[in-house]
Amino acid sequence: MTAVIINGKEIAEKKKQEIAEEVKRLKSQGVTPGLAVILVGNNHASRTYVTNKQKTCQELGMNSVLIEMPEEVSEDELLSRIEELNHDPQIHGILVQLPLPAHINETKVIESISPNKDVDGFHPINIGRMMTGQNTFLPCTPYGIMVLLEETGISVEGKHVVVVGRSNIVGKPAGQLFLNQHATVTYCHSRTKDLKVHTKQADILVAAVGIPNFITADHVKEGAIVIDVGINRNEAGKLCGDVAFDEVSKKASYITPVPKGVGPMTITMLMYNTLKSAAESIN
Ligand code: GUN
Repeated sequence: MTAVIINGKEIAEKKKQEIAEEVKRLKSQGVTPGLAVILVGNNHASRTYVTNKQKTCQELGMNSVLIEMPEEVSEDELLSRIEELNHDPQIHGILVQLPLPAHINETKVIESISPNKDVDGFHPINIGRMMTGQNTFLPCTPYGIMVLLEETGISVEGKHVVVVGRSNIVGKPAGQLFLNQHATVTYCHSRTKDLKVHTKQADILVAAVGIPNFITADHVKEGAIVIDVGINRNEAGKLCGDVAFDEVSKKASYITPVPKGVGPMTITMLMYNTLKSAAESIN
């Protein structure tokens, strides 16, 4: 079998157009969605991500505010800046780019963001709402995976989904979203014994481990749907996922590539969450 390649870039573009239309509608009602992004220190990768988020805001007609703080900023100073943003009516979404310097308590920072402006979906209140199936901000990467599948016409109900990776940002919430949509979910991770025994059971295999080419053809059942969340660099410095694309794409029915797979969806869902927050602020 040769897999159909799920074009994340194209799907993201379509979604962004829909969001831009909604932004226009909100603006005509006097509300411009606004996202505040806080960048602490000078991590190169973080700066690139933040710049992309700002650019996308502008493309879609939203306001974006970048707040840069030096590496040595105190936790108190960061928390008081977040508190100001929590009360700023022009700001509908607050995102603190992670990772933070070691002297700052990440959990405390995440919990200081108003759950109503937590467009990352990282606040424990929003995670609890997600787990209980309530309306909330869903974490952007897992949400993006669900939208990719929906747009491709793939139903999740009753399918066996195996998630490899259990991070708070991707693996854990991805499994929960699949469960919410009536899939049967297995979580695997670095201490799972006989990983292949599990992954070969998957109708949908989600790879979120952060190791280049970790998932090979012998991890995958013939005809499985393979979602690659990895963003790695191989020995040659080339961008690659967690899945050995060339061999796995000969066995899977659908596969997401890296780049242009899950990646473009993450930022799109961040824009969606910011729009949602702005829309809810007038209701
Ligand atoms: N660092 C890497 N990914 C993310 C993300 O999705 N949100 C935030 N805030 N920081 C990140």
